[in-house]
Amino acid sequence: MSLQGKKILLGITGSIAAYKSAMLVRLLVKAGAEVRVVMTRAATDFISPLTLSTLSRHEVYTHVHDEGAWHSHVELGLWADALLVAPATAHTLARMAQGLCDDMLTAVYLSARCPVWVAPAMDLDMWQHPATQRNLRTLQADGVRIIPVGEGELASGLHGPGRMAEPEAIAAFLEAALTPQGPFAGRTVLVTAGPTHEPLDPVRFLGNRSTGKMGIALAEELARRGARVQLILGPTPLRPTHPDIEVVPVRTAEEMHAATVERFAQADAAILAAAVADYRPATVASEKIKKQGDELQLRLVRTPDIAATLGKRKKPGQVLVGFALETENERTNALGKLRRKNLDFIVLNSLRDAGAGFAHDTNKVTILSADGTEKPFPLKSKREVAADIVDELAHRLARRP
Ligand code: C5P
Repeated sequence: MSLQGKKILLGITGSIAAYKSAMLVRLLVKAGAEVRVVMTRAATDFISPLTLSTLSRHEVYTHVHDEGAWHSHVELGLWADALLVAPATAHTLARMAQGLCDDMLTAVYLSARCPVWVAPAMDLDMWQHPATQRNLRTLQADGVRIIPVGEGELASGLHGPGRMAEPEAIAAFLEAALTPQGPFAGRTVLVTAGPTHEPLDPVRFLGNRSTGKMGIALAEELARRGARVQLILGPTPLRPTHPDIEVVPVRTAEEMHAATVERFAQADAAILAAAVADYRPATVASEKIKKQGDELQLRLVRTPDIAATLGKRKKPGQVLVGFALETENERTNALGKLRRKNLDFIVLNSLRDAGAGFAHDTNKVTILSADGTEKPFPLKSKREVAADIVDELAHRLARRP
């Protein structure tokens, strides 16, 4: 791991998980980072500033009024390449979300121009409280990256979500974001995922059984490898956990088309994993459609084909990847789509294979390429399938300027 020369400002707040901050400082320093520590008053009840100043080889800041520290919240905010608050208590998350600045850490947060990460740590009920979840959404909308909490035994003896991520995982998040390497460094990848809902009236829609699992797994894998990921996500309750994935929620095929086309010109690649409706109701009733007679006829019209639109706009160097979910003539149909939509490769999954397709945690795919190659893979978890697909994309990006 390398964070050579990176300046990391670590904020520690008053949670029992603060004992892990000592290990975190050690890991960051060992990885080559310069670390400065800011503690809230409550944090000093859990771990001694002396421990942290010894490990970070620098004085620890606790109070705005410390000698010589009055202006340093601005200096520290400007000095840092990254501000990481770990552990972040419910209280400090609330203060950050509100923009309060009643101590050194919150003053530094408001002055920081660098990316900010928080690694929350709290008890199960505090984590699940709507106020905490609301504050996290506010922080996310402000650009703060949330490092997902772990599940397990909490200091209170309860079991559930709320544990701070392990120091190794936190350091890995920072490393991937601050020093991206490999074919995805500096690359933007668009991913479409999930179903679309085509409204009939204010309460009904035409949809499909896609859950978005495969596309979300792809977005996670790309983000882990350092890509900037924009996930255009149809209606599904599932969300990615990686803090650096930008989620653009959409509902209909037309909304997904607009959101994807708008971003494609700036992207290096697009993976189209969404199950987009091919037809939508020709008209959307403004009031709920009433029962009448034994039959109801719906007139449907075609939706735009996102893959085909991007295929027409594709510039040299851009890579376009599609999916084909087939129930018969799998290879022929998939190759037809590959050509018609001008894709670089297509991921074929057959609903005839047990464990493949919608809602499963597994998938069995074959990658068919425009250059005529064909790679079949065994049944694997969707995370492993995502890694195979991303490997294939990595080869192609590595070959391009
Ligand atoms: O033609 P078919 O829908 O089977 O093609 C599947 C591929 O095309 C998938 O990658 C899917 O995400 C994409 N697609 C699309 N827009 C549509 C229909 C399909 O991007 N309207």
